[in-house]
Amino acid sequence: MEPTQAGQVVVIGSGLIGRSWTMVFAGGGFRVKLYDIVQQQITSALEYISKEMKELEKSGMLKGTLNAEKQFSLISGCTDLKTAVDGAMFIQECTPEKLELKKKIFGQLDLIVSNDVILSSSTSTLLPTKLFTGLKHVKQCIVAHPVNPPYYVPLVELVPHPETEPSTVDKTHALMKKIGQSPVKLTKEIDGFVLNRLQYAVISEAWRLVGEGVISPADLDLVMSDGLGMRYAFIGPLETMHLNAEGMTNYCERYREGMIHVLKTFGPVPDFSGEIEQQISQAMSEKTPADPEHLNASQSTGRKSGRRRDIVLSLPHWK
Ligand code: NAI
Repeated sequence: MEPTQAGQVVVIGSGLIGRSWTMVFAGGGFRVKLYDIVQQQITSALEYISKEMKELEKSGMLKGTLNAEKQFSLISGCTDLKTAVDGAMFIQECTPEKLELKKKIFGQLDLIVSNDVILSSSTSTLLPTKLFTGLKHVKQCIVAHPVNPPYYVPLVELVPHPETEPSTVDKTHALMKKIGQSPVKLTKEIDGFVLNRLQYAVISEAWRLVGEGVISPADLDLVMSDGLGMRYAFIGPLETMHLNAEGMTNYCERYREGMIHVLKTFGPVPDFSGEIEQQISQAMSEKTPADPEHLNASQSTGRKSGRRRDIVLSLPHWK
C-alpha cells in the first residue's frame, strides 16, 4: 500500500465542497485538517465522510490506494484557525461565496501563514484581484476552482492573481495531479473562468432555440445528452475539429465559412425569465417535478443504476 504523503493540507469550510475536497486530498494520501467556525458542521462533515468512504470502498469507487479506514484516519477536525494552519503546505478555502467573508478569511490567514504555504480559494465567481490584492502573501495565492462534486468530476481551473508566483501555479498543478484531479491553467483571470463561459454559451443558445420555437425543451436536451455531449465526454471541441477532417487546417478550410455564417445568426443574450422560462420550467417539471422529494428520488434512482446522476443533477449548479 502506498505510504501517506508528506505535508499537511487544510480545508477551510466543511460544507458541500469542503467535504469533497477533504476526501480527494485524503484519497491522495495527505493528512487533512478540516476547519470550520461551526463545530456541528465539522461533526456532521466527518460523519458524512466516514459513511461515504465506506460506501465507496464497498462499491469499488474509493479513490487512491489506501483503504477507507486509513484515509479517514488522515482527517481531523479543528475550530481554531491558527492550530489548523500550523505546519500546512496547502490551504484550500471553501467558505460561502461572499467576497467580504472570503477577504476577511484571507486577511486572517495572511497574518499567520508561513512564506511557503499555498493559499487557494474554491471560489466559483470571484476574481483573484478581488480576493487577494493587497495581501502580504499574494505571490502564494491562487484560485483552484473545482467542479461539483470534485470527488467525481476531476477538472480544476487554476486562476492566478497578476502577482501570483509561477511556482505557486506549478506547485498547485502538481499537487492536483498527485491527488488524481485534472488541473488546467488559466494565464489570467476572466469572468466565469473557462468552464462557465463554455457552459453559458451552450445554455444561451439552447434558450434561444427553444424561445424561437425551433425545438422543444426535451428534444433540445436530447441533442446534448444523446449527441454532442457524448462526443465531448471523450474529447474537447478543438480536438473534435482536428479529428473531424484531415487536421485542423483542413477543418477550417472546409467549415470556416459555414461556421461564421451560422454564428452570425445567433441572437442576443437572453434574460432567462418570462414566458420562455415558464415554458422550459414546465417541460422539465413534467419529467421531474421540481420539489425536493422528486428531485432527491431521481438522484437516488440514478445512484442505484450506477450512473452517478448526482453529477448530472448538479449540472445546473456548476459554478
Ligand atoms: P457551503 O455553504 O455548503 O459550505 C460553506 C461552509 O463554510 C459551511 O460549513 C460554513 O459553516 C463554513 N463557514 C462559514 N463561514 C466560515 C468561516 N469564517 N470560516 C470557516 N468556515 C466558515 O458552501 P459550498 O457549496 O461548499 O461552497 C463553498 C465554496 O465553493 C464557494 O466559494 C463556492 O462558490 C465554491 N464552489 C461551490 C460549488 C458548488 O456547486 N456548491 C462548485 C464549485 C465551487
